Amino acid sequence: MAVTLPANTQVYLNAIAARRTLYELKPELPADVTLENIQQVVQSIIKNTPTALNSQENRAIILIGDAHKKVWDHVVKAIPGENGKKRPTSARDEAYGCVIFFTEQNTVKKFQQDYPAAASAFPVAASHTTGAVQINSWTALETLGLGCHLQHYNDAVREALNNYKIPESWTVNSQLSFGIPIKSAGPKLFIENPVTIFK
Ligand SMILES: Cc1cc2nc3c(=O)[nH]c(=O)nc-3n(C[C@H](O)[C@H](O)[C@H](O)COP(=O)(O)O)c2cc1C
Repeated sequence: MAVTLPANTQVYLNAIAARRTLYELKPELPADVTLENIQQVVQSIIKNTPTALNSQENRAIILIGDAHKKVWDHVVKAIPGENGKKRPTSARDEAYGCVIFFTEQNTVKKFQQDYPAAASAFPVAASHTTGAVQINSWTALETLGLGCHLQHYNDAVREALNNYKIPESWTVNSQLSFGIPIKSAGPKLFIENPVTIFK
């Protein structure tokens, strides 16, 4: 049974529901969106998305222009087969830019050393928190009117980033390409999946 929620809560839920995978993009920003807006959004999400024991191992960079093209061109060349090249080619040619999400592994190791009884939990928690950062960023960028899709060409992207002085300890988790969406997402099928209250 649907209940009426406070307006702020409903706005938040609407943003989550509106986030979709949008593959068909053009390499521009909406007229009222600047690169600094995108930077601010990702910066705020990195800062405020929680981490285990406030370990703060999430990192991100934004690539546009030549840097974006070079990294994706490297991925296109690294992936065998025409089929496999489809997504990286579209990221290179049709996205305006991308956000690359990382985990800073020295931080994770330090927490493992400092809390040995929980050592095995920190890499798992790091994986959870980067997922939260990625999906928070994806949702927020789409509220700016951008279209985004999430990819995982992590090894090839890491190789390509060797030109950009990214610390060795930053491991690549994913790439969120963004641009102006030129086609909306199709319908999405949902399973019956209720959240049950037990008393
Ligand atoms: C953790 C995660 C990993 C994903 N990896 C990829 C990926 O590597 N390539 C891709 O094209 N889409 C990827 N997606 C997009 C999903 O396929 C997509 O979110 C899902 O089908 C639901 O569609 P929607 O995003 O339109 O709601 C990923 C999504 C999530 C949440």
